[in-house]
Amino acid sequence: MSVRRMKWKCISGMKYDFETVIRRENVGSGKWNEIKDTLGFFPKNVIPFSVADMEFVEAPEIVEGLKQFLDKSVLGYAQPTIAFKEAAKSWLSRRHGWEIDTEWIRDTPGVINGFFTAVKAFTQEGEGVMLMTPVYYPMYAAVTRHNRVLVENKLIRMGDTYEIDFTDFETKAKDPNTKLLILCSPHNPSGRVWRREELERIGRICLENHVLVVSDEIHFDIVSPGYKHIPFASLSPEFAMNTITCTAPSKTFNLAGLQTALAIIPNPELRQKFYEEQQKDDGNPKCNILGLEGCRIAYTKCEEWLEQVKAVIEHNRQIIITFLAREFPQIQVMKLEGTYLLWIDFNALGIECHELAHLLREKAHLFFDEGYIFGEDGAGFERWNLACPTKYVEEGLERLKMVLNSVLKKGE
Ligand SMILES: Cc1ncc(COP(=O)(O)O)c(C=O)c1O
Repeated sequence: MSVRRMKWKCISGMKYDFETVIRRENVGSGKWNEIKDTLGFFPKNVIPFSVADMEFVEAPEIVEGLKQFLDKSVLGYAQPTIAFKEAAKSWLSRRHGWEIDTEWIRDTPGVINGFFTAVKAFTQEGEGVMLMTPVYYPMYAAVTRHNRVLVENKLIRMGDTYEIDFTDFETKAKDPNTKLLILCSPHNPSGRVWRREELERIGRICLENHVLVVSDEIHFDIVSPGYKHIPFASLSPEFAMNTITCTAPSKTFNLAGLQTALAIIPNPELRQKFYEEQQKDDGNPKCNILGLEGCRIAYTKCEEWLEQVKAVIEHNRQIIITFLAREFPQIQVMKLEGTYLLWIDFNALGIECHELAHLLREKAHLFFDEGYIFGEDGAGFERWNLACPTKYVEEGLERLKMVLNSVLKKGE
């Protein structure tokens, strides 16, 4: 049956526009340009479910706020304002129950930049950095590009979710060469939101073994109904003193192009070392003046937009789950506890993973993030970005069905 003929409960009472399709070819979108680079042209009907930014119209509060800012400002060199730091502090308190001091905040041009700096500041070449894999691919680059040793703690697949292999985690943390953990919380791509007990266990093991924690919490605002994100450093003063938390408004409010993120470092010595590394490495890293203002506006004026965007993400997820369960029950959709990135296992179809990517791109003009880029255990998965107009999801499912059926029929 066609996805459009299936009955969906509509989302009613939306104040914001989440349906307008904005084509982003030739406007400098990284995600869209990658598509052109792959195919050699922009197909008219391309649907991008790949890189984790949103295909929605920006929140009008941000657009209006930035226009007003431009009317009264000049675009000189920027430094984080008190208003920006206070907005972040208040957001962390209101939304995540974490009370911070504004002094703990260091601005960085991005979360990737934040964990790259941390790896360089707090480890030496040849020392071990632990990742819980499969994981967001630039985390591997943070380790290997700086000649650190990758210490892999593989997550254990349990049906439609993952668990932490704590025996392996502890053994690896105990190795004196392991100096740092990059924790991804919520976890991309598995969609896990770590429970309090899991975070406490991670924290205890790291403290006992002098492993510093860099907690990437960029996805912390997008958590599925029934789940709660807990900032790792909020769990205890001891954890806080052993943690660098990297986060940003960029996933939540689609501001990645404004390149503004926060490294929150309660421990003054670590904060100083982080700062020195920033100075050393990047000369003089600067945030973007519009990013600082965009972040301030988002954290003070856009909570209603966020609640509505979460409803759309959940709606899109439901459509995919229902459709795939009916048309391709062999495909396993992993449980989505957090992030707007649905992790889907196509392995049971028996299509080789590069072949699958090729088919989806070339025959259906559908672009996902391929599972294998997140590590070898991601092979055969596709990561589906749900932050897009629902009509993209409906059309994407139709094309997915067509392509898969054509291949599966041939193999019969
Ligand atoms: C876990 C995670 N960390 C960091 C980033 C990128 O952060 P930034 O754009 O601030 O460097 C992403 C983007 O998808 C992500 O998923």
